[in-house]
Amino acid sequence: MSTFWSSWIIGGTLIVILGCAYILRMVIVDTMGEEGKEMPHKFDGIVEMNNPLPKWWTYMFAISIVWGIGYLALYGVANYEGPWQWKSANKIVYSLAESKAAVLAEKEKGAIIQYDMEMAMAKETFDPIFAAYAAKPIDVLAKDPEAIKVGQRLFIQNCSQCHGSDARGQRGFPNLTDNDWLHGGSMEKIKETIMHGRNSTAMASWSAVLGGEQGVKEVVAYVRSLSGRKVNAKDATAGKAKFGICAGCHGIDGKGMHVMGAPNLTDNIWLYGGSERAITDSVANGRIGIMPAWKDILGHDKVHVISAYVYSLSNK
Ligand code: HEC
Ligand code: HEC
Repeated sequence: MSTFWSSWIIGGTLIVILGCAYILRMVIVDTMGEEGKEMPHKFDGIVEMNNPLPKWWTYMFAISIVWGIGYLALYGVANYEGPWQWKSANKIVYSLAESKAAVLAEKEKGAIIQYDMEMAMAKETFDPIFAAYAAKPIDVLAKDPEAIKVGQRLFIQNCSQCHGSDARGQRGFPNLTDNDWLHGGSMEKIKETIMHGRNSTAMASWSAVLGGEQGVKEVVAYVRSLSGRKVNAKDATAGKAKFGICAGCHGIDGKGMHVMGAPNLTDNIWLYGGSERAITDSVANGRIGIMPAWKDILGHDKVHVISAYVYSLSNK
């Protein structure tokens, strides 16, 4: 914050507090004539008496003014940090590495960062619980209703913005409940995906390789025929001949390959849409699905519990 705005905020805050003190002083020092007597104004037969403010109220008001000044002095305001250097959080961090460095630096300075303090407290309380869960195999955990509830909450906090709160996904973000897997649906594969993330950069633009628009059209016709769509037979036959380019990842039968993260093209479940237009777009322009890695954000034990939740969705 610039010095100008900092002084503006500090000045404004002090003026308001001191203004309140001034008003309080004005009303407790009697300037209106004799206490307990009628005041000179009257409205509809109602008379105001010159009575002092209740003592308890006056003291409370005075105490809150002192409290306010003390609070600002200790916790800081605008650019003034106060003796404890209290902050709600390290706000100007853009990456995990920066955040970790900031936590350490503030700790070294002896500053009180509320968020870090609460995270440390939560770690102490919850880490043993997660460690106990992490000691059990995923398929055992997937049958433990308590663990699943915990996993579901972690999922909603961390994964739902992409995969949906019910994990059914959306365009470009796979459905995790349907037993159709890009990278494999075994316990180990699910956990590996969540721990380390997946960068599906293999689906390049194939337009040039296929010889332009006509080639793309033919392959798209063949791909659509795999899931039983009615297509131009001539195009599909020509497309089948070209599908060898695709087979290295999607398999000769088009059923996909987990090691490549290449989806099954025959099952009518589409990550990016199954219309002619969407498939043409996939083939002509390529797709890059990126699943972030959670190892450093959530840590192994929490990932283990979320894995059990995800596993439970398609293994009832
Ligand atoms: C920023 C968006 C985003 C977030 C957040 C996200 N994912 Fe993903 N996830 C993706 C994308 C995109 C893919 C598909 C990657 C691909 O195309 O190969 C994916 C793939 C997956 C897969 C593999 C699906 C398959 O068919 O093999 C699993 C499992 C998964 N995510 C679980 C999670 C979990 C659990 C979380 C929360 C800890 C999470 N994801 C958070 C975007 C996200
Ligand atoms: C080098 C490996 C590789 C090759 C070769 C390849 N693909 Fe893909 N393809 C992928 C991957 C990986 C994805 C998933 C991309 C993602 O998750 O973002 C994909 C996705 C797709 C999709 C989208 C599927 C959906 O569910 O929306 C279509 C369609 C597709 N490929 C068709 C083709 C065709 C046709 C060819 C041949 C011309 C081809 N691919 C060649 C790896 C490959």
